Amino acid sequence: MSTGSERLLAATRRQPVDATPVWFMRQAGRSLPQYRSLRQRFSFLELATNSELCVDITCLPVELLGVDAAVVFADIMLPLQGMGVAFEIREDVGPVIADPIRSAAQVERLRVVEAEEATPYLFPAIRGARDRLGARAALVGFGAAPFTLACYLVEGRGSRDYPRVRSLIHSEPELWERLMGTLTEVLARYLIAQGRAGADVVQLFDSWIGVLDRATFARHVAPHLRSLIERLRPVVPVIYFSTASAHLLDLIAATGPDGVSVDWRVPLGEAWETVGHHRFIQGNLDPALVLAPWPVLEEAARAVLSEAGQRPGHVFNLGHGVLPNSDPDRLRRLVELVHGHSGSRLDPPGTGLAD
Ligand code: CP3
Repeated sequence: MSTGSERLLAATRRQPVDATPVWFMRQAGRSLPQYRSLRQRFSFLELATNSELCVDITCLPVELLGVDAAVVFADIMLPLQGMGVAFEIREDVGPVIADPIRSAAQVERLRVVEAEEATPYLFPAIRGARDRLGARAALVGFGAAPFTLACYLVEGRGSRDYPRVRSLIHSEPELWERLMGTLTEVLARYLIAQGRAGADVVQLFDSWIGVLDRATFARHVAPHLRSLIERLRPVVPVIYFSTASAHLLDLIAATGPDGVSVDWRVPLGEAWETVGHHRFIQGNLDPALVLAPWPVLEEAARAVLSEAGQRPGHVFNLGHGVLPNSDPDRLRRLVELVHGHSGSRLDPPGTGLAD
């Protein structure tokens, strides 16, 4: 039997596995009672900046749920600390930027610093988690993709469809270019440093890219994404995650990630067809189904596995983060189900080796 880390890494190389690897986005910091009790004593930022607690929280889901990967306990906003951007994480609101970026002068003032200087606590945490996990589980590092970080910087906080960002792109394309260039540089350093510290794979969270039309994505975002991915891939494999982006999947694939993580709005088989079977695919159970009665959840999870069709290169995940009121016991049972009823073959039925 393979270890979690072997399974996950084999899937990222599209090699056959004895069972489909599985992990969940936001598996550490949302529904686990152990995390919630730590949060009674510490704020999120106090936890994230404490390397030892960070290792504990990162490894918790591997111990409790049996997942094949741990995701580093951090946040997409952390690199902003090094850039000189003040923000807070407000209860029930999420990240809030003190002084949203709307002018060229503000973009000029953004600092580009080395990752170790910007987030010194993160790299000991990655090395510690890598050590503690051993072969039991792979370690997923992450950051925002430049567009999603720009969304928070410009809008100032989360929004339904980021109107200020969309208008800035078109009214001040040069300012937008400079902002995306700076963010791409910071994120490249941040994610390369995570790979060097021991992350086995890194995931780019482009949670809000779905608000863009194809032409805007192709012209104002894709070139930055492509250059970021090109810099990362020699160091560490890259998963690109987004939601509500079925209309962009072919353009996303063309930016060159090793794997693409899709949400539940698109059938996994169809998404895989679009991004190409030479990439691995991750997803895509609706996180709301974890709250449904078990037989409903079980049927939906089997449907996701069947969409993958025993093709090598499927990493089972939810289509977005674990919802806060999910029952950890449910998640554990879901991991067992995926491990018990899956696996991939070199020649999945009806596809042939040359596929
Ligand atoms: O399991 C994990 O916690 C893994 C680490 C992780 C966090 N954030 C910790 C966190 C990951 C992978 C993220 C990604 C993240 N952060 C994304 C992309 C994924 C997605 O859901 O689309 C985004 C958009 C953010 C921005 C962000 N940070 C938001 C919207 C919030 C508000 C609260 C929430 O849980 O969504 C945060 C704060 C945050 N990030 C917390 C944690 C554990 C705080 C939760 C708490 O108060 O305890």
